[in-house]
Amino acid sequence: MSQPKVYYFDNNATTRVAPEVVDAMIPFLREHWGNPSSVYSFGKQVARQVETAREKVAALVNAEPREIVFTSCGTESNNSALHSALVTHSQKRHVITTAVEHSANLKFCGHLQKMGFDITLLPVESDGGLDIHLLEKSIRPDTAIVSVMWANNETGVLFPIEEIAAICRSKGVLFHTDAVQTPGKLKIDVKELGVDFLSLSAHKLYAPKGIGLLYVKRRTKYQPYVMGGGQERGRRGGTENVAHIVGFGRAAELALVNLPAENVHIRALRDKLEHWILKNISGATRNGPKEPRLPNTANIAFDGIEAEGILMLLDQLGICVSSGSACTSGSLDPSHVLLAMGCSPARARGSVRFSLGIYNTEADVDYLLEHLPPIIAKLRASAPRNEAVARKAAVA
Ligand SMILES: Cc1ncc(COP(=O)(O)O)c(C=O)c1O
Repeated sequence: MSQPKVYYFDNNATTRVAPEVVDAMIPFLREHWGNPSSVYSFGKQVARQVETAREKVAALVNAEPREIVFTSCGTESNNSALHSALVTHSQKRHVITTAVEHSANLKFCGHLQKMGFDITLLPVESDGGLDIHLLEKSIRPDTAIVSVMWANNETGVLFPIEEIAAICRSKGVLFHTDAVQTPGKLKIDVKELGVDFLSLSAHKLYAPKGIGLLYVKRRTKYQPYVMGGGQERGRRGGTENVAHIVGFGRAAELALVNLPAENVHIRALRDKLEHWILKNISGATRNGPKEPRLPNTANIAFDGIEAEGILMLLDQLGICVSSGSACTSGSLDPSHVLLAMGCSPARARGSVRFSLGIYNTEADVDYLLEHLPPIIAKLRASAPRNEAVARKAAVA
């Protein structure tokens, strides 16, 4: 089945698996399919490749290989960090997180609340930033863990993780960061950051879905979330997803080498796209600040229309963008991230996220910029309650 050309601007949702990653994985599906826990060499040689991949992902975040626990995804990594903190500090019943986290954190915190734990959801400011003093004041003697994402998946806004980690350390509280959106976009150094736990997911880094990792700082008490066999040195039960682990390792290796050059390329394309839209389409404004922000993400509100319409018309042209996070698109609820930043529901519903990746070209951006203005104008013209906006929607 041939796939028509896709103009893909949704790299925060998932990324294309790099051909080099596919090549690295295939031998582990075709030939080296032994169980890494086996005692015979057919299994042991596979175990060695799992350890090589562990070294590669550890190098990506400047961790020791033994500090890496492979999981099934970013969601499991996030859940595992909170679970472990609460189980290993059973006298502590309080968790601090933010109102703009991914549902991988927020849903788990909702579940914890139902189980009787106390959750503080920190608000954000209109630019998406956090009030660090409020965070510090919210830490209590019974706080088990603070969990704050590094980069927001919808707006790209970055939180000052190093500063937050230092506050938590000074108060003797564990700190976890959901860094799922950062690899390949930011330099990650767990030692410099000073975090206790850090979550990553391979499918945001040109590797397959269904594999993630949790960094657990050495000597941090850890209780597994998924229990079973003694895999991952007793920290995560379940036979290892070998081909995916190997793919994750290869993607990490590529990211370390290519990150600086790719970021220059991606940032330039993102800036071109964003500047052009803000300058040439009336009633278009950015959600969130210019900086500090991921280099690949632009979240733009279009006055007077619903993002759903934009998404559908762009889709007919093979262009993929999203509104809100991928996990909640399909529902018409406005983005909880934009609402937390004080956007009106109407503005949140009219907002589109463009997230670029290493495979985007200037020609992709030009194609999008050629087709977006008539779509916006058409939608505004057909929205009767917004006639005034439609009249102003002249596009240069
Ligand atoms: C910030 C963030 N955290 C967690 C996740 C969940 O990762 P996974 O899809 O691997 O479970 C995502 C996925 O979109 C994300 O963007």
